[in-house]
Amino acid sequence: MEKVIVSASKKYEILIDEGILDNVGKHVSRCCSASKVLLVSDTNVFPLYGERVISSLEDSGLETIYYVITAGESSKNSESLFELIDVLADNEFTRFDVIVALGGGVVGDLAGFCASIYLRGIKFFQVPTTLLAAVDSSVGGKTAIDIAQGKNLVGSFYQPSGVFFDPQALSTLPDEVYADGMAEVIKYGVILDGELFSQLEACGDHIGVEQIKRCIEIKRDVVEKDEFEGGMRKLLNFGHTFGHATEKVSGYSVSHGRAVSMGMRIIAKACYELGSCSFDDYSRLCALLDKFSLEPIAAFKGEALADAMLFDKKREGDSISLVLMDAIGKCRVEKMSVFEAVKILYLGS
Ligand SMILES: NC(=O)c1ccc[n+]([C@@H]2O[C@H](COP(=O)([O-])OP(=O)(O)OC[C@H]3O[C@@H](n4cnc5c(N)ncnc54)[C@H](O)[C@@H]3O)[C@@H](O)[C@H]2O)c1
Ligand SMILES: [Zn+2]
Repeated sequence: MEKVIVSASKKYEILIDEGILDNVGKHVSRCCSASKVLLVSDTNVFPLYGERVISSLEDSGLETIYYVITAGESSKNSESLFELIDVLADNEFTRFDVIVALGGGVVGDLAGFCASIYLRGIKFFQVPTTLLAAVDSSVGGKTAIDIAQGKNLVGSFYQPSGVFFDPQALSTLPDEVYADGMAEVIKYGVILDGELFSQLEACGDHIGVEQIKRCIEIKRDVVEKDEFEGGMRKLLNFGHTFGHATEKVSGYSVSHGRAVSMGMRIIAKACYELGSCSFDDYSRLCALLDKFSLEPIAAFKGEALADAMLFDKKREGDSISLVLMDAIGKCRVEKMSVFEAVKILYLGS
């Protein structure tokens, strides 16, 4: 078993272990004194792994109620949130009871946000089943739902009380969902770890537990230094400013990972044009994205992307913080006017 300890506003363990799905109950009971669990999952994941997790929770003496949302981003909304809250209240969940999120980032973000507001906060545990959830959304305590005006506009910083990841769960992941997670994995290599990037260049078409753990550690390190995104955590937004704009312009038909990979291509090209990184570094990034089936998306017009960027939720008044690449493994955050950011977008498009 591999373990990563996170010491943020809450201290908790991330455990990585083959077969841990059958031991979730044991770990939940070790970490809290709950008597009831609400297991939240989705219509793809629950039929695959729900029974195993329920058995393990019940074997540990935890009364388990489950709630299954329709798979997909469209369930990460206020309707699902209030349905979950109703289930908790109808079943008289107290502050000592807990939520377990079994699924990808959609389930984790929704269940986490619900846990953060029900009774002003009850404990929750993440059992990530996508690569993206394992390396990114289950780590660091951001929770959210989408509203009509935009994605992730309502949420909280709320750390889980434990994360239990079973690498076996990735065996059932569709290729395109795996590729989405690889966009974030590659991002970690670019922003902070050239050695990880080289390992990704050398490995086959799937990464191992060693690389997954490294990504979790990188995110842990960043979150421990800057939990509430005042500074260093912004590095994690590499490729995301143009990525978010791409998602938005596509009407969310382009997935997050694919959009971020396109965003990384754009910003890296601009950095090369500006002389901030070498052509070799830019080419290596493009080649690695190609290797993991994150090919360029046939263009959305720069003008539409610029418009979408103007309404980025991370805009700070008339400024925006862009993450620029100096080299593979070395990036920096630069605050600039929105006008300058738009120029960079055109340079990289
Ligand atoms: N909180 C954060 O810090 C953070 C960070 C990044 C992304 N996110 C959020 O995460 C979400 C995206 O997460 P995601 O990519 O995991 O999407 P997702 O949860 O929608 O999962 C993708 C698809 O894979 C299916 N699936 C999940 N696990 C499976 C498995 N083991 N086998 C077969 N199918 C499986 C799901 O049912 C879904 O259809 C977005 O809502 C995004 O905003 C949050
Ligand atoms: Zn992302």
